[in-house]
Amino acid sequence: MTRQAPRRFDLRGWSAEDLANPYPIYRHYRETDPVHLGPANASGTNTWFAFRYDDVTSVLSNRCFGRGDTQFSSVVPTECAALRRIVSNWLVFLDPPRHTRLRSLLTREFSPQVVTTLRPRVAAIARELATAMASSPTVDLVADFAAPLPILVICELLGVPRQDRIWLRKQAMSLQQASSGRSGNYAEAETAACELSDYFRREVQRRRREPREDLIALLVRAKDRGGSLTDDELIATCVHLLTAGHETTTNLISKSVLALLRTPEVLGELRANPELMPVAVDELIRYDPPVQMVTRWAQRDQVLRGRSIHRGEKLVLVLGSANRDPLLCPDPDVVRLDRRPNRHCGFGIGIHHCLGSALARAETEIGLNELFRQLPGLHLTDEPVQFAPDVVFHGPERLTLTTCAG
Ligand code: HEM
Repeated sequence: MTRQAPRRFDLRGWSAEDLANPYPIYRHYRETDPVHLGPANASGTNTWFAFRYDDVTSVLSNRCFGRGDTQFSSVVPTECAALRRIVSNWLVFLDPPRHTRLRSLLTREFSPQVVTTLRPRVAAIARELATAMASSPTVDLVADFAAPLPILVICELLGVPRQDRIWLRKQAMSLQQASSGRSGNYAEAETAACELSDYFRREVQRRRREPREDLIALLVRAKDRGGSLTDDELIATCVHLLTAGHETTTNLISKSVLALLRTPEVLGELRANPELMPVAVDELIRYDPPVQMVTRWAQRDQVLRGRSIHRGEKLVLVLGSANRDPLLCPDPDVVRLDRRPNRHCGFGIGIHHCLGSALARAETEIGLNELFRQLPGLHLTDEPVQFAPDVVFHGPERLTLTTCAG
């Protein structure tokens, strides 16, 4: 039996203990009420939660569940004009045909082939960060490594100055937290949306004055040549890549280190065989995915596992639960390096499958290998690991480790 699973599954009000380990709660619903009716939202619309792997994957592949226009009317207040303009142009919130057009412009830039050419730069950044940590007896893995690595990589990819990274991260976090309904701080998010729009508008103008070879320049050329991208889409895409590309990877790196330090036998196998790291990264995404849930809206009346879901109702697909479904793999609560194939849904499924998955895998694989190579004495401390108060974008706020240096 699980710890006091609530009668209604809700995204709010999680205890620190449940945030640190949501899996017993998921298991309870997966076994007792796999398509569960949660509390209605403020406007009275039903919210459903799906916990089983086959339900989650079938909904994500079913065009009858999409985005529609409901996303913004139910989440972002109308007075937040800049925020609405940005998120309403985010790929992840679009349905075809706009989604298809915008995604096709970006697909090549995030292909495994292009990511291969980025690997030396990712390795150089990871090395620089790990070297800086190696002389301190204790480190905060999140602040010192897991957060700066992806933000520096995305800055390089977009072609914006690395010294802007702390400001960019702060703006991106407040924007994303509000747009996903997490912080509720829409005033702060609206300010961030205005500032980020101005920032990227200036970057776009700079590319028009002095040609460059970066992702913003590529999008500017795509717009100027074919007119297939509006100004709003161009700016919003830059902000989307910034937000989508760092917090998730930060959480994957932090949670992977945590999981490996807690399973020394797996870490030992990886130290002896670093070539197994790509397999390990996929298993770590399955085991504890950074994006625990994604949302769809029913575009027409549907039946899922005997439950009637009406047009306009919201359905939350709990990826974290689907990845621990015994129907997906044996011993789902254990980290194992022998799961091939590993058909987890940690990067989503279907048309919205993560655009940056090859980049995120490469950053995590290179980052972990560099970290464990340069800091062989890394250990957890007695300090409890404090998770951010968010069960959707899930990860620790701090992760204090000793390095055995000094
Ligand atoms: C979409 C997870 C890293 C860009 C998604 C989705 C998931 C996800 C679950 C699907 C959302 C949905 O179906 O509603 C992750 C995880 C990451 C990661 C776990 C790191 C470990 C990245 C990176 C980038 C990126 C590094 C880019 C630099 C995107 C974009 C989409 C997306 C643009 C929307 C794709 C579309 O709608 O077609 N990601 N992501 N992600 N991700 Fe990632």
